[in-house]
Amino acid sequence: MSINSDLNVVFVLGGPGVGKGTQCSKLVKDFKFKHLSAGDLLRAEQVAEGSQFRDIIKQHIKDGTIVPQEITIALLRQAIVNNQHEYKNFLIDGFPRKLDQAITFEETVMKAKLTLFFDCTKEVMLNRLMERSKTSGREDDNIESIEKRFDTFVNTSMPVIEYLDTERHIVKKIDCTKSVEEIYTNVKKALEGII
Ligand code: C5P
Ligand code: MG
Repeated sequence: MSINSDLNVVFVLGGPGVGKGTQCSKLVKDFKFKHLSAGDLLRAEQVAEGSQFRDIIKQHIKDGTIVPQEITIALLRQAIVNNQHEYKNFLIDGFPRKLDQAITFEETVMKAKLTLFFDCTKEVMLNRLMERSKTSGREDDNIESIEKRFDTFVNTSMPVIEYLDTERHIVKKIDCTKSVEEIYTNVKKALEGII
């Protein structure tokens, strides 16, 4: 099925533990956004009965590396198709994480209106992740996987944010060392025109 061209897609990017999910949940409570987390979609596919991608997804998540774009883009495309009759505004959280994903998604699914880049120090992110690890049950919230996820973020995902900034001019940077409420105020400001 085709994608409505009048949807608003917002990419939500930033390092592991920066608070992308927290801010997206707040937006969903206050506004009509569909929140699609690429990581959550991959984790669901990883346990989906009969999926041919279970092993490959599991391995990449454990290693903190990026799942091949075909898998992630197919999951996102399907989720958008399933929700586009009810929602006009989509938060795509944790995607694109690699340059090929950004280019293919915008060529074959749709162009993003905006990118929220949650900027933070590694120290703050690490503290948040170690706190989250007590309750998250995530297989990659352990120190070995976390270090690999940071490496991937710096080497593979930061260049995507630079591309979206310098080539597409759609990046708004949010300082995420602040409190959840202060961050949320700035997120809402950045989304003016969409919300
Ligand atoms: O965003 P989140 O931290 O939930 O992602 C968990 C893992 O899912 C990543 O470390 C990566 O292995 C995989 N992922 C991916 N491509 C994306 C988003 C997540 O490969 N765009
Ligand atoms: Mg998340």
